[in-house]
Amino acid sequence: MAEDARQLRDSVESTTVVVIGAGPAGMTVANLLRGSGVDCVVLESRSRAYVSQRQRAGIVETRAVRMFDDWGLADRVLGGVPYDGILEFRVDGDRHLVSDSDGSNGPAARLCPQQILVQKLTAAYLEDGGDLRFEAADVSLHDLAGDRPTVRYRSVDGALRAITCDFVAGCDGDHGVSRTAVPDGALTAYALDHGIGWLTILADAPPPAHPLLAVSPQGFAAHFPRGPHASRYYLQCPPDDHPDAWTDTRVWDALRTRLGDQALTSGPITEREIFRLRSLVHDPMQYGRLFLVGDAAHIVSPMGGKGMNLALYDADVFARAVRDFVRGGDDTGLRTYSSRCLRRVWNDQEFSHWLTRTLHDAGDATDAGPFHRHLARARLDRLFTSPGAARAFADLMTGLDPTGDPVTQDVLGNLSGPGGG
Ligand code: APR
Repeated sequence: MAEDARQLRDSVESTTVVVIGAGPAGMTVANLLRGSGVDCVVLESRSRAYVSQRQRAGIVETRAVRMFDDWGLADRVLGGVPYDGILEFRVDGDRHLVSDSDGSNGPAARLCPQQILVQKLTAAYLEDGGDLRFEAADVSLHDLAGDRPTVRYRSVDGALRAITCDFVAGCDGDHGVSRTAVPDGALTAYALDHGIGWLTILADAPPPAHPLLAVSPQGFAAHFPRGPHASRYYLQCPPDDHPDAWTDTRVWDALRTRLGDQALTSGPITEREIFRLRSLVHDPMQYGRLFLVGDAAHIVSPMGGKGMNLALYDADVFARAVRDFVRGGDDTGLRTYSSRCLRRVWNDQEFSHWLTRTLHDAGDATDAGPFHRHLARARLDRLFTSPGAARAFADLMTGLDPTGDPVTQDVLGNLSGPGGG
């Protein structure tokens, strides 16, 4: 104990921002702060190899691509392939192509698996001399309500360390420590369990021509590209189902039936998991000098691909706010961080919820019943036939719906780039 205390005294460091977590949120915050000349240290509990292999989301929406472009980072951090903006809906085997093209100029969305984005963000940050410490154990946050918070952790060599800072960016996901450092009652959690399970399958099998969402009486199914020779599939299932109940044969039979494609090519399955669809928002996304960014603040059900994109949005808003404060003492961005992010969070929660209900209720494999099945099919019919409805859908898919947000309008109109003062 005495040795630990001595070590800690000896190793107190100081920086402007401690970023906790090196996922998409944390590495975006770190790169944007570095691009603004703001000091930061990133602490990540896992190894670099683990973090850079973790597979999750697969699409960087148009708004987020333009955000990276605006910061001069798009070429360095975005991998994958451009997305032509066409999404296929297959309803009882009938194909409907919906374009999310909004007609505006500028770079569009990319099919970029999350781990590629994280790998590239990490490489860019380290190449620029960024401070990133993997395998940081026992991270704890102190004095968040004071002027100078401290973050303590045990480094990979076993030594106890402490960093004092002006701000902490809690980018450590839904199961991290940042949010748990907030006193009880300071945040309100709004949670929704959709009562729906998804079996998720990763396989070495040909990707579809377009990301594909399918409605069928047997339940929802989806097929997404994950590189030139790999695919991610989803199959609606009871939330308490077990992956072992899904043999390879059962998986491919169910996909062929629900996708209405008896010729679907199978391949070796490399991952098989079941999860419950859930949504969660913490309000406010700030406590004292701690700012929650990404999954640490909110979870969006995966339909619509908004989880990672919201994390990128929060990161952009936070980095601009810190930059303005550090450069000119303007604390407007910090004071409005939570309300500004929550406005977009609820907007995307609503889109994700709408799409989740529509595609599951239309198949009638939920408890929703025939009335809701008709409502959901009416919504799909409107989407396939009304240009106005298709345009509204495109705005939400691309993330270009301004929702009155000055940051989004700034990116869209390029009124003043983030590098500008
Ligand atoms: N100390 C340090 N790092 C931690 C700790 C901790 N106690 N707990 C978790 N972490 C790290 C995780 O190992 C992970 O690398 O924080 C990171 C959190 O990353 P994500 O969970 O990916 O969250 P986020 O960066 O907000 O990404 C947004 O979008 O596609 C969705 O949910 C998906 O992960 C995705 C998210």
